Amino acid sequence: MRRPMVAGNWKMHGTRASVAELIDGLRHLALPSDVDVAVFPPSLFINQVIDGLQGKSISVGAQNAAMESMQGALTGEIAPSQLVDAGCSLVLVGHSERRQIMGEQDAVLIRKFAAAQASGLTPVLCVGETLEEREAGKTLEVVSRQVGSIIDELGVEVFARAVIAYEPVWAIGTGLTASPQQAQDVHAAIRAQLAAKNSEVAQGVRLLYGGSVKAANAVELFGMPDIDGGLIGGASLNADEFGAIIRAAGN
Ligand code: 13P
Repeated sequence: MRRPMVAGNWKMHGTRASVAELIDGLRHLALPSDVDVAVFPPSLFINQVIDGLQGKSISVGAQNAAMESMQGALTGEIAPSQLVDAGCSLVLVGHSERRQIMGEQDAVLIRKFAAAQASGLTPVLCVGETLEEREAGKTLEVVSRQVGSIIDELGVEVFARAVIAYEPVWAIGTGLTASPQQAQDVHAAIRAQLAAKNSEVAQGVRLLYGGSVKAANAVELFGMPDIDGGLIGGASLNADEFGAIIRAAGN
């Protein structure tokens, strides 16, 4: 059985004061014991969040990391090894905002994925199609290319120590959610793609759905057989709403 995971991607939100408030809200949540919970604050606040969540079973990750695992001369970047030193255990790789707005392409993402694992971080590989691609009937082709680029370069076994988040670009921050069946179809296709190379890895890897997840739609989404939890944007900035989504993933 795969253990569900619910993770909050805070994106470029927060001030020291609002982060302190959010930490306080998270500290007060009663968390189910059968769900892994993580948050991805802006890097600026990682130390504050790790200190503030001491003793609470919430993992902390970064939204991005350098493509070199060790520290060095790379202005403006943060090395995976530095994130480990800070107490992080996870890192997002290839969020659509970084693919689309920052222009990150598969070649760079392969290096970021490998660097993260080399330092002991668990990469959360984000994949998903744009509205244009969905309307052109290319959803599975796009997602399979994004997952396939990692498999081809690094081997399918790397997914024994990684998480995949399917986030249709048209559902992110728009209030539009993929229907549970639409999401399930893509998740099943990703798992089949991995299973064609290694069925054990495919059965073990957690596939999260992201895109306008709220407490109100989480139960139905998380009830699908290949949806193992969620990557939550906007709704993770409210501790109570985030808590309700976490509970939706329980038992
Ligand atoms: P929203 O939940 O705000 O749609 O964002 C999803 C997302 O991009 C999480 O990484």
